[in-house]
Amino acid sequence: MGQLDGKVALVTGSARGIGRAIAEKLAAEGADLALCDLQADWLAETAAAVETLGQKVICLSADVSKGDDVNKAVADTIEQLGGVDILVNNAGITKDTLLMRMSEEQWDDVLAVNLRGTFLFTKAVARPMMKKRAGNIVNVASIIGLIGNAGQCNYAASKAGVIALTKSSAKELAPRGVRVNAIAPGFIESKMTEGLPEDVRKKMLDAIPMGRFGKPEDVADVVLFLAGVSSGYMTGQVLTVSGGMVM
Ligand SMILES: NC(=O)c1ccc[n+]([C@@H]2O[C@H](COP(=O)([O-])OP(=O)(O)OC[C@H]3O[C@@H](n4cnc5c(N)ncnc54)[C@H](O)[C@@H]3O)[C@@H](O)[C@H]2O)c1
Repeated sequence: MGQLDGKVALVTGSARGIGRAIAEKLAAEGADLALCDLQADWLAETAAAVETLGQKVICLSADVSKGDDVNKAVADTIEQLGGVDILVNNAGITKDTLLMRMSEEQWDDVLAVNLRGTFLFTKAVARPMMKKRAGNIVNVASIIGLIGNAGQCNYAASKAGVIALTKSSAKELAPRGVRVNAIAPGFIESKMTEGLPEDVRKKMLDAIPMGRFGKPEDVADVVLFLAGVSSGYMTGQVLTVSGGMVM
């Protein structure tokens, strides 16, 4: 018996990295999965892993920044899997550069995926969840949204926005039985971070009291806690998973 038996979870950006680890963790606890990424065929490996765990899975193509894509993804999930109990807003991008060099396009692109995408998916699931008087939304923010970072004005603003959206939507939806929480990962090994120069990686490692970078599974464990029954009296919270980098 898993703690998510009979639940349906929709995870955005689940083709790889943290999103894939989250999808597999929720499936291992008994949830059926709606996987969502820019292209459905990128989701084949995650889908195979979920199926191996014995859960139902559907693969959805959607750009989280486009309202029509998002509404269709939620409608398809409800039609094919019978509902949506858990939403994990994980899809995210970076377009790093210093403020003085940042183009309007670099600003807009990052805000569109990270913040607008989280807003659009939250809005799309809010109605069916409120109707059911139950639901659980977990937003993947970042420690950068809490502490800022040179070269990431767009990303930091988007993730701070995700935290503010988490708290405001938590207040609106709590009376209808829907919880909304966020997770703020630190430096996690993934495609997003593997391109960083060696000197930057070393500097970051020196700043992590636990002395190691995080793994996608470290984040997935805490998402499971927020998505599951053990956090039943928590909403509007931001949990930091950074090996002690941010306290
Ligand atoms: N890796 C880290 O150190 C770290 C730290 C803090 C927060 N995060 C956050 O965790 C989340 C996952 O990051 P990751 O490291 O696994 O990144 P990743 O680049 O490995 O994976 C991101 C996934 O999102 C998908 N995606 C991107 N734009 C999309 C869009 N418009 N619509 C649908 N899907 C889209 C990508 O195709 C990819 O599969 C992001 O929100 C990121 O900001 C990562």
